[in-house]
Amino acid sequence: MAGMKGLRLVIFGPPGSGKGTQSKLISELYGIPHISTGDIFRDEIARGSRLGRLAEEYISKGLLVPDEVVVEMVRERLLREDCKPGFILDGFPRTLRQAEELDRILEELGWRLDAVINLVVDEEEVVRRITLRRVCSVCGAIYHLEFNPPKRPGVCDRCGGKLYQREDDTEEVVRKRLEVYRTQTEPILRYYREKGLVRDVDGNPSIEEVFEQVKAVLEEVRSGGDG
Ligand code: AP5
Ligand code: MG
Repeated sequence: MAGMKGLRLVIFGPPGSGKGTQSKLISELYGIPHISTGDIFRDEIARGSRLGRLAEEYISKGLLVPDEVVVEMVRERLLREDCKPGFILDGFPRTLRQAEELDRILEELGWRLDAVINLVVDEEEVVRRITLRRVCSVCGAIYHLEFNPPKRPGVCDRCGGKLYQREDDTEEVVRKRLEVYRTQTEPILRYYREKGLVRDVDGNPSIEEVFEQVKAVLEEVRSGGDG
């Protein structure tokens, strides 16, 4: 359709709410890059880079990596050519400072966010999801031993890579991550609500049902509606 807008999105929600899962589906359907700060850090950790070593100190404890580090990393990523048609940011921003810095970066590029998709999920449900999550060590595909199991145990359906459990998916670290989410991250929803950007989506049903809702929201956003 002529005059359709690009899609510059943030996906928001607590740990285990399905941000990565939905982002991958959105990225495939609309052909926009999925930018997950957590995935970038995990790649850096796997490569043993300096950034990886620094990030791991925080991630392993369920704490946030310092704002300056994350903001610069995202800035460099957004400057890349593939972000021109749009992007979906997953796991960023996570503090008010990061949200403000993101606005500054977008302004520099002459862009604005189109929507913040907020996945609303009950706390017992996110704990259930995180504790049985498995991730592909090669392509990053996300599985759940009960809700979205791989066809062969321990092996990625898409690329044959080996599946692993994230180091920060232990019960103790998950509790810390949820507390950090409530105290440092959830408050920035207000910042985006004031801008009229937030689209709440019920994240409790199945992956497919959540995606149906997300698509409906994005079609509205693309055609310029404000809900
Ligand atoms: P990050 O990797 O972003 O982790 P998170 O925010 O805690 O979120 P998760 O990746 O755990 O969950 P998700 O919402 O992506 O859920 P998923 O789709 O996998 O960050 C990790 C760490 O990095 C942070 O703690 C911090 O230290 C650091 N960091 C990252 N960004 C930072 C930043 N901006 N600033 C500072 N530090 C930063 O789904 C979860 C499970 O549920 C899967 O098993 C999946 O298969 C399953 N599932 C998904 N949807 C459904 C559904 N609808 N029904 C049933 N099961 C489902
Ligand atoms: Mg994720």
